[in-house]
Amino acid sequence: MDKYLVFGNPIAQSKSPLIHQMFAEQTQQDISYSKKQPEEVDFKAEVSAFIIAGGKGANVTAPFKEQAMQMCDQLTDRAASAGAVNTLSFADGNIYGDNTDGVGLVNDLKSHNVQLTNKTILLMGAGGAARGVILPLLAEYPKQIIIVNRTTEKAEQLAARFNDEKICAISYSETAKTTFDVIINATSASLSASLPDLNPACITTNTVCYDMVYGAELSPFLKWCSQHKSQLVIDGLGMLVGQAAESFFIWRKVKPQQSQVLAKLRNKLQ
Ligand code: ATR
Repeated sequence: MDKYLVFGNPIAQSKSPLIHQMFAEQTQQDISYSKKQPEEVDFKAEVSAFIIAGGKGANVTAPFKEQAMQMCDQLTDRAASAGAVNTLSFADGNIYGDNTDGVGLVNDLKSHNVQLTNKTILLMGAGGAARGVILPLLAEYPKQIIIVNRTTEKAEQLAARFNDEKICAISYSETAKTTFDVIINATSASLSASLPDLNPACITTNTVCYDMVYGAELSPFLKWCSQHKSQLVIDGLGMLVGQAAESFFIWRKVKPQQSQVLAKLRNKLQ
């Protein structure tokens, strides 16, 4: 039985073991998947110990994604661009790093029939969560990706890293001047139940609003978007399942079916 696990701190709340167990049952893969909560200073030693114990791969969540990247012998473009690794694979004495968060987001949007090609996307936040999804969003040929952040300089720095005319940065006050096709909340504001200072004038009835967080109830941001005309608001549960499905595919070369797993998780949230 091949062994996998997820590293994070805290990790008790993680749904990854449940998701991967469901994927494994569905695809008849003989794997185990557990969770581990190292202290920050012990992360690299714990990964090494897991490799020695025969581990085949691991997911990595906060706060270890940057450390995980540093350990890798080889990175995919999307992991290098994210500056973070959420999927480690161990083979031939090497550590391979990937980042499946962005593809999880893009596939979830597609599963809601949201097309990104030629669309104007507002990406809120300039931390790791935002950085992690930019390359996969760009791969969908949007018209523009506009990054907005409370600290505008960080948005400008993030946009500059890509050196791509499709990516630019604005301040929250500038969101009053235009409308967007898709708005993605990659800030950590929802975790503290606070609202970013987005101007409601930038939302139309056709604006799709996405929040990377999820819960039994809509996040404060998605509630606010619904109150300000958006007719399609989507939380991040599908992104969670999507990034897991991509990790599973990297490890097992089998694509699990996601909708049933997503429905079961949604039920458990209620
Ligand atoms: P993560 O790895 O989850 O992206 P992070 O790197 O700490 O976490 O980034 C958090 C992001 O949420 C930042 O862009 C932060 O804005 P600042 O750079 O100005 O700090 C944003 N953020 C957090 N709370 C916010 C709030 N109440 N309103 C708007 N943006 C917020």
